[in-house]
Amino acid sequence: MIIALCGFMGSGKTTLGKILSEKLGWRFCDTDEYIEKMEGKSIPNIFAQYGEEYFRELEHKAIKELSMGDKIVLSLGGGLPISHKNKVVLKNLCVIYLDSSFESCYERIKNTDRPIVRQKTKEQLKKLFEDRKLHYKEVSKFVVASDNVKEMAEQIFEFVKEELQ
Ligand code: S3P
Repeated sequence: MIIALCGFMGSGKTTLGKILSEKLGWRFCDTDEYIEKMEGKSIPNIFAQYGEEYFRELEHKAIKELSMGDKIVLSLGGGLPISHKNKVVLKNLCVIYLDSSFESCYERIKNTDRPIVRQKTKEQLKKLFEDRKLHYKEVSKFVVASDNVKEMAEQIFEFVKEELQ
């Protein structure tokens, strides 16, 4: 089984993914880190040199490859669940949506070098956050709506325990 955490940038996917993978004794993997290793370049460099479309192709390749594994907790890049071809792959995984509030996501991402954050104003990011919600819900089996990491970890773990039975 693969458990994949989805949600907006800054929703806590990496933090919670690491907690969950430790609790389960499973491998943790982040699609962005996988792409960075694949290309030998950082995400901002890939965007700057080749553009977003090229990055989205790499993202598709990454999720196709990673979906072949087992006993993995995956953190999905915030834009990954949007395209139809990625949604098809995600159907085979146990996807959980981390529905954190925009303000808490924004606080965590505003001073980072994420290309999408650097390209947009706060208002534009808020719009993107709202537009993506439906996509995240569509691919997910379970939704955790909270801004508290400890509370989210507990809820996710309860859900996962049921799924594993
Ligand atoms: C993106 C989110 C990022 C990364 C890239 C694009 C997005 O991942 O994949 O910068 O489109 O939302 P995180 O959600 O892990 O920050």
